Amino acid sequence: MSNLEMVPKGLDGVVVDKTELSRVDGTNGVLVYRGYNIDEVAQCSFEEICYLFLYGDLPNIEQLKKIDKRLKAERSLPKAVWDFVANAPKNEHPMAVLRTAVSMLSGYMLNVDDLSSDVLLRHAIALTSKVSTISAAISRARQGLFAVEPSFDLSHAANYLYMSTGEIPQDVVAKTLDMALVLHADHGFNASTFTARVVTSSLSDMVSAVTAAIGSLKGPLHGGANTAVMEMLIEIGSLENVENWVNQTLQQKRKIMGFGHRVYKTIDPRAKHLKRMSKEWGERAGNVKWFLMSEKIEDMMQSFKHLNANVDFYSASTYYAMGIEPEMFTAIFAVARTIGWTSHIIEQLVDNRIMRPEAAYAGPENKMFVPIEKRS
Ligand code: CMC
Repeated sequence: MSNLEMVPKGLDGVVVDKTELSRVDGTNGVLVYRGYNIDEVAQCSFEEICYLFLYGDLPNIEQLKKIDKRLKAERSLPKAVWDFVANAPKNEHPMAVLRTAVSMLSGYMLNVDDLSSDVLLRHAIALTSKVSTISAAISRARQGLFAVEPSFDLSHAANYLYMSTGEIPQDVVAKTLDMALVLHADHGFNASTFTARVVTSSLSDMVSAVTAAIGSLKGPLHGGANTAVMEMLIEIGSLENVENWVNQTLQQKRKIMGFGHRVYKTIDPRAKHLKRMSKEWGERAGNVKWFLMSEKIEDMMQSFKHLNANVDFYSASTYYAMGIEPEMFTAIFAVARTIGWTSHIIEQLVDNRIMRPEAAYAGPENKMFVPIEKRS
């Protein structure tokens, strides 16, 4: 064994690099995007947040128009990607389809291996736009419907909903998704962002890094938790069943999805907004059952485990009340997080060093080599 220090499993409490993109204060429950508190920038459009991450500050009206135009111009997809999504196996996980479709994009992007800053910026905008188009196309294909070509007029959030449903959404629906995208846009060195930075650190291209990040986000301990929350609520079925279900699950030492966080030791500031949205949407949809069930689970988790709801908990009942199918929830998370991933990739390359930690070898030593013909 080497005499290097072993860091805690899961890199718990380890600071691996600096970032100017977002600050997560787990003790006080504060999230900051480039100096702006999330509670304030939650009212910004997703396009403003894209500008903030890519250019360093919130845009003025002219700057916003420019990035909006650039995002819109990148909405279309190569035919091969439309075809792949339309023909992907119907039972394949949307995040798996998204991962492959995004990977395919590299063949159609100019200078994909060029890591100069203007090209990276172009790729970041292109990927942010195209992940949305692909996600919406996946949603259509899952319903057995033809894909809808992007609109070049609607906002990022409204266009996602339009491409998913074929109908121009009401303002209130688009505004809800817009805010959800803003709340999910970036979050320090979470698993998928760290994955993207590790891939980038070898000087690989942005498409490779985003593809890997999608694979990481898919897992139920990360972005996949939002789908798992809705599956749990559906399994519980009613407010009356919550108490028994939670008690039994905790007795069996099983995790309840949407709770706990590596960094937040108090309320996740994003969850506060999503809780309000879940209530409003339950009322709007004329069915507050999912919200009330969620609230009861939250109370029990507080009392018995001192664990708080995270971003995935109330996003589930919000999206469900908006009519979005649970299997698509994580792909929507990816639509939001692509701007975070791509901004981190750009930042990683400003002062890059390959990520190459060491492992403490714990296997056997000094085994006697036996030629294959003599092995039993
Ligand atoms: N339900 C029940 N118990 C829990 C939960 C939970 N959701 N989360 C943590 N615990 C318990 C866990 O059993 C352990 O207890 P003990 O010390 O008695 O063994 C203790 O709390 C510490 O848990 P951990 O898993 O070691 O904590 P971690 O920092 O390694 O993991 C986490 C953080 C978010 C992966 C974890 O809380 C979890 O699995 N939550 C459920 C999945 C989830 O909601 N993920 C979304 C994360 S936030 C947004 C995102 O990344 O997408």
